[in-house]
Amino acid sequence: MGFAFHPPTFSIGTFLLALSIFLVLPELSAGITRHYKFDIVLQNVTRLCRTRSTVTVNGQYPGPKIVVREGDRVVVKVVNHMQNNITIHWHGIRQLQSQWADGPAYVTQCPIQTGRSYVYNFTITGQRGTLWWHAHHSWLRATVYGPLIILPKRGVPYPFPKPYKEVPILFGDDNDHILFIRFVGLAYTREWFNEDPEAVIAQSMQTGAGPNVSEAHTINGLPGPLYNCSAKDTFKLKVKPGKTYLLRLINAALNDDLFFSIANHSMTVVETDASYVKPFVTDTILIGPGETTTVLLRTKPAFPNATFFMAARPYNTGLGTIDNTTVAGLLEYTSTSPTSMKMLPLLKPTLPAINDTATAANFSTKLRSLATLQFPANVPQTVDRRFYFTIGLGTRPCPKNQTCQGPNGTKFAATVNNVSFVFPSMALLQAHYLGQSNGVYTTDFPNNPPFPINYTGTPPNNTFVTNGTKVAVLPFNTNVELVMQDTSILGAESHPLHLHGYNFYIVGQGFGNYDPVNDPAKFNLVDPVERNTAGVPSGGWIAVRFRADNPGVWLMHCHFDVHLSWGLVMAWVVNDGPLRGQKLPPPPSDLPKC
Ligand code: C2O
Repeated sequence: MGFAFHPPTFSIGTFLLALSIFLVLPELSAGITRHYKFDIVLQNVTRLCRTRSTVTVNGQYPGPKIVVREGDRVVVKVVNHMQNNITIHWHGIRQLQSQWADGPAYVTQCPIQTGRSYVYNFTITGQRGTLWWHAHHSWLRATVYGPLIILPKRGVPYPFPKPYKEVPILFGDDNDHILFIRFVGLAYTREWFNEDPEAVIAQSMQTGAGPNVSEAHTINGLPGPLYNCSAKDTFKLKVKPGKTYLLRLINAALNDDLFFSIANHSMTVVETDASYVKPFVTDTILIGPGETTTVLLRTKPAFPNATFFMAARPYNTGLGTIDNTTVAGLLEYTSTSPTSMKMLPLLKPTLPAINDTATAANFSTKLRSLATLQFPANVPQTVDRRFYFTIGLGTRPCPKNQTCQGPNGTKFAATVNNVSFVFPSMALLQAHYLGQSNGVYTTDFPNNPPFPINYTGTPPNNTFVTNGTKVAVLPFNTNVELVMQDTSILGAESHPLHLHGYNFYIVGQGFGNYDPVNDPAKFNLVDPVERNTAGVPSGGWIAVRFRADNPGVWLMHCHFDVHLSWGLVMAWVVNDGPLRGQKLPPPPSDLPKC
């Protein structure tokens, strides 16, 4: 390809050109560039017998599937054709040397405004497996999401039997309330829409109450036969006997951890968050929002004379109202006599009880890195900085002359170390790059909770939080150990904590309060699971380690959107290293302005 430019006569210049082509060739052969165009448009979508205008990518709900190989460059031009601002986040992509392409609004970029575009340009380095992409502004990810599948490099096999077929399975939800929020500003009808969405979220935040819950969960955008008028909107997986299917499970739901099972079938977990794990067999998967789990499904050796439900419903221990409905899809064996299909019994799986923390913990502790020579677990063996973060809810006082609908007339809030994050009005990464943090953020994010309490015991009387845009600063290559402790304030609850720009290793977890004297002795520094999202157990703690080798500004937040809105967020600023390739590159010229 590059050699087509060879001039016919030899010169020093030609020689240097040829030499440079030769030198970059190994890199070129490492991957190709894949171009995508995402047009953000409204599209009518009918679910649960209602047709609603929905924010989509290219008119598709769920959005288009991106399939690439490890080593590829991905170039996505996002053009915003709707009235609301938007950004897209590539959930789990490390964004090495492409920090400006990460996507969270007001963190790595300002939102893409109406009629504007932004080109996300990143190379997939050292990752392969199931990830996904979603909107990262307001609550737009309710309908703007899709799979991001990274196949191994050409000629590199999976570390498990080659599947006969691969199928993405995305869990989502269907929610009138969210649609309400979304369409404000579009002048659909005068009663609904005459403000912008941020104003409406702010408004719903103003009452201080929990938001309405979704009305249905979905599989690949389809609610399935257990909901009103949705039998025709059922995801069907048609399979042949005696084959192995690779299911790429993605939890894109806004606010619910989910249990997932398939009647009369077990699954073998082989990968989570685009990192291979030691395979293990299970009947039930626990998957938190933001998490991905890839499983092998071995079908029955012969036509089973039955059809099987694959079903998901929440795992929840919190005190708030949740959508506890069940979404079901069908696993259908194809038969040579289709008439016999109608008579087949339909078998249903037994899902764990909604608050079955034992099953949840049992699943999480089974996950182990593959940890082979080819796919090592590079767990930091030493620690430079230790952090202890409490994760949980709290309250804010109700402003004077207002009535609030949160606990005891207050407003709900959520925090890390009792700091409720306030999003700035310019991108943190820009402020950091320009050295202009003044008035945008402060670097005093606390290493520890403000005062020691029995975090999982009787909550304190004063549950008020503090507000701020605070970051924790890390020198390049710091080995970080972070313990995240759930609190019982307004109810113990599991929280899916997601870190941008990194994977971390989950070296330990437990119930009750973390014990800094005795718990570290039990840490797994050999083959802990590597993830970008970790479920902090309800009434428990989790310890993670990562090496801060990716300079930039990286958001860490609960992947429940309601907790994200309430402020369960913080950010890490990782400083540049001394060498080339260890520095934050300059922003692309089309980076959206605020
Ligand atoms: Cu999948 Cu910050 O998000």
